[in-house]
Amino acid sequence: MDTKKHHHDPLEELQRRSAEAEAGGGATRREREHKEGKLSARERIELLLDEGTFEELDKFVKHRGTDFGMAEQRPSGDGFVSGFGRIDGRSVYVFAQDFTVFGGSLSEANAGKITKIMKLAMNNGAPVIGLNDSGGARIQEGVMSLAGYADIFLLNTLASGVVPQISAVMGPCAGGAVYSPAITDFIFMTEKTSYMFVTGPDVIKTVTHEEVTKHELGGAMTHNARSGVAHFVAHDDKECLAMIRELLSFLPSNNLDDAPRRATNDPPNRADAALDSIVPEDPMQPYDIKGVIHAVVDDNYFFEVHEHFAKNIVVGFARLDGQPVGIVANQPAFLAGVLDINASVKGARFVRFCDAFNIPLITFEDVPGFLPGTQQEYGGIIKHGAKLLFAFAEATVPKITVITRKAYGGAYCVMSSKHIRTDINFAWPTAEIAVMGPEGAVNIVYRREIEQVPESDRARLREEKVAEFRERFANPYVAAERGYIDAVIKPSETRTKLVAALRSLENKRDTTPRKKHGNIPL
Ligand code: HXC
Repeated sequence: MDTKKHHHDPLEELQRRSAEAEAGGGATRREREHKEGKLSARERIELLLDEGTFEELDKFVKHRGTDFGMAEQRPSGDGFVSGFGRIDGRSVYVFAQDFTVFGGSLSEANAGKITKIMKLAMNNGAPVIGLNDSGGARIQEGVMSLAGYADIFLLNTLASGVVPQISAVMGPCAGGAVYSPAITDFIFMTEKTSYMFVTGPDVIKTVTHEEVTKHELGGAMTHNARSGVAHFVAHDDKECLAMIRELLSFLPSNNLDDAPRRATNDPPNRADAALDSIVPEDPMQPYDIKGVIHAVVDDNYFFEVHEHFAKNIVVGFARLDGQPVGIVANQPAFLAGVLDINASVKGARFVRFCDAFNIPLITFEDVPGFLPGTQQEYGGIIKHGAKLLFAFAEATVPKITVITRKAYGGAYCVMSSKHIRTDINFAWPTAEIAVMGPEGAVNIVYRREIEQVPESDRARLREEKVAEFRERFANPYVAAERGYIDAVIKPSETRTKLVAALRSLENKRDTTPRKKHGNIPL
């Protein structure tokens, strides 16, 4: 290298180093990526941020590896692109791994680039977005690279609940590297080009003789629908980046901020007559709770989170009166809306996110109870169900619940009931609040009495008793008489009532006893 010349021409030197950083791993590797449908790290950042707002940091950082011939290959930037910019005018910090440079692998040096922007993000109260596309720890660097990962994990943990942390997996993410996205708040995956696993197919085959493809093991749908590790799936990079922008529009920049309000032309008192007949007369008939959510929120727009996982509970963001809210809703159209392990964990994580970031919670409840069975009991439904209970009880953000139909058993308590400091509890006239469904109740309470009458009379007696139970408990008024329900409302007026309640809670203050941290059952 002609160092002398560069000394004499500082601008040229800057240009040369910049070009080197921007070239990444070269045209051939880049082409291979493009053929797979993947954008480059820089293209991704451009699409993610408001146009022209990206300010790169550490473009000239080089790795310090010397073993395995690395001393001769020290490209500027070391394959990671990091810095800050704006999304909808708001500050964010971002890093993107470039798979064309040493497989996007993490060196000590580029771990430092990530921790640098994470510290800046925390100090300045702005979200961090990581675009992951990496072969993991830089093999040539050994433990220095592992140390780099651990430094990132620590900052992910410290930043949790301080600034929103968003991960997109847009290529490989394997081994211990998965634990950084796992600690962050939301994981996006691209449908065809991403995968995440702790141990890859080859090792699995050696150890357990199980044969599985990368995609089956850790592809986007595996983690969106099966493991629940990922929250969003996008068709491609472009859609993924647009979805991240959209998610951020519902979130505050940090835990001391409020989420940004967005003006709406949707009148707060818009009534929706269809809601008055959405709950079927037959209590065993399902209906789609998303129909209720859409009908009630601003512009009928609901941004669902974790759409493909544990569909018996629906969570996501919407706006009411311009105010971002988190929605948690049992889904009678899937497994009757029962609470099982996956639904409990999904709901709990979402509730805790909203609580950490000052996003009010609106709960729609139609739940027949917790799912019975050995599978659930052996799987620990007790501790997992407790997570959802703990999360709702712990939450101090404004909380409003609407019971649309069933609120049975422990699930009544769990789903943001009055007793766990929910501010406003509404019920529709179709609400049924009871220890269990009338059939189950009669089978237990009147079993002996029913067995004692001649067989021919049993069905009639059972029916009578069921009707009696239904009459007594299958309504919201016993709870309303006690004040456990604040108001029984016409379904068509739900939006109006929710907006008024939300406005009344605008300055809510609530505290929890001082402690280091609670011990949520894990
Ligand atoms: C250094 C790496 C690398 C790595 C890939 N490359 N992974 N270089 N360290 N970890 C390089 C390759 O040498 C190659 O360089 C280029 O990146 C592209 O890799 P390919 O294998 O050609 O790509 P592909 O066929 O698409 O396969 C991608 C892959 C595979 C599945 C990710 O590269 C792979 O298995 N990599 C190793 C994964 C791994 O075991 N990581 C480390 C341990 S787990 P050239 O010059 O040919 O382009 C881990 C632990 C984290 O990360 C611990 C945290 C606590």
